[in-house]
Amino acid sequence: MNDVSPILLLMAGMLGVAAVTAWGLGIYVVVRACRRRQRKAWPFVLLAIVPGPIFLGVATLARMQGRCPFRWTFAQVLSLAAGITAAVHYLSGLIGLQVLLDMGIMLACLVIAMLPLIVLAFLGPAKPNEKLQGKGLLIDARGLHKSYHLGNRELAVLRNVSLSVQSGEFVAILGASGSGKSTLLHLLGLLDSIDSGSLLLDGIDSRSLQGSRRDAIRSREIGFVFQFYHLLPELTVLENVMLPAMTELGPATWVAQKAAVRQRAEEILGRVGLSERIGHRPRQLSGGEQQRVAIARALVNNPKILLADEPTGNLDSKTGLAIIELLKGLNTKQRQTVVMVTHDAALAQMADRIVRLRDGKMETA
Ligand SMILES: Nc1ncnc2c1ncn2[C@@H]1O[C@H](COP(=O)(O)OP(=O)(O)OP(=O)(O)O)[C@@H](O)[C@H]1O
Ligand SMILES: [Mg+2]
Repeated sequence: MNDVSPILLLMAGMLGVAAVTAWGLGIYVVVRACRRRQRKAWPFVLLAIVPGPIFLGVATLARMQGRCPFRWTFAQVLSLAAGITAAVHYLSGLIGLQVLLDMGIMLACLVIAMLPLIVLAFLGPAKPNEKLQGKGLLIDARGLHKSYHLGNRELAVLRNVSLSVQSGEFVAILGASGSGKSTLLHLLGLLDSIDSGSLLLDGIDSRSLQGSRRDAIRSREIGFVFQFYHLLPELTVLENVMLPAMTELGPATWVAQKAAVRQRAEEILGRVGLSERIGHRPRQLSGGEQQRVAIARALVNNPKILLADEPTGNLDSKTGLAIIELLKGLNTKQRQTVVMVTHDAALAQMADRIVRLRDGKMETA
């Protein structure tokens, strides 16, 4: 949702709330008119019937296209607040049982009107059906520039960097500290945006990937491994690995697919040699084992691209070599595309190809 302006979000939320509240109140008025056998209630019938389907139609369309116009949770909270405000307002004129009964019916109508929102929230956020094919030229970066601004100083970190990675390749990015390796990896992984140049992922222009489309590619198609593992200490090994799959699915889908995800996580943990450790917490593991968990976690959504930033930077040389061998094995056996950043020239030799960065520029030698 980071591409939608907060004002637009607020307006859309308020519109949703207004529609739901009007719908709820409309249903209430109809119910009341029927109870009192009032005739000529048709304007209220319209009020009850029209906003609901319009709102639901727009919401469903937006959801199908993966362009959720506002946060469901936000709309729910506001509509609840609107319902309570209306009830309190009504209560201020309260005299007698009849009004209490009316109020109860009104609240029930509001809840009924909110039901679709609750169902949509339970289904989880809209997800675009964005995928990379994973064949041919997977990463095509040309003339990338990236600068950071510190006060009024501009720090040019990447200057005219180009890099192509074919599907199934294992590429090492080698360079001294501060040469811009992590910055480049963040751009390739859509964690940061390029200033100029072009970046195509499987032919898709990264500039066209915004908001939920960008999130979908990043979480499904790109796996990240970092130097310091970044595992959640409270979760077990298995739970850590299942986490990206869980955040991908809404609660309802999660309930339906939990067993399959668990099976997949166990299978990947077996692949990285940790079948015996699935119930451990990260603190009960060695550094090398924690990095294996991080690699398993990066693979759980079956990403087309695995990006590793100094995956051995925190490990002794023997354990580091074992991690690189694991990445190499994934690359050769599963045809996993890997881009790995390192400043260890010996480890970089394990890759199919080495590209060198120096002071933000690609070395051609
Ligand atoms: N968010 C940021 N804001 C400002 N400057 C940044 C930011 N991120 C990185 N830099 C600067 O960009 C330069 C390159 O950083 P980067 O992290 O890409 O280097 P690196 O090659 O990964 O180094 P290392 O091997 O030490 O991890 C550094 O000089 C760093 O200070
Ligand atoms: Mg770095």
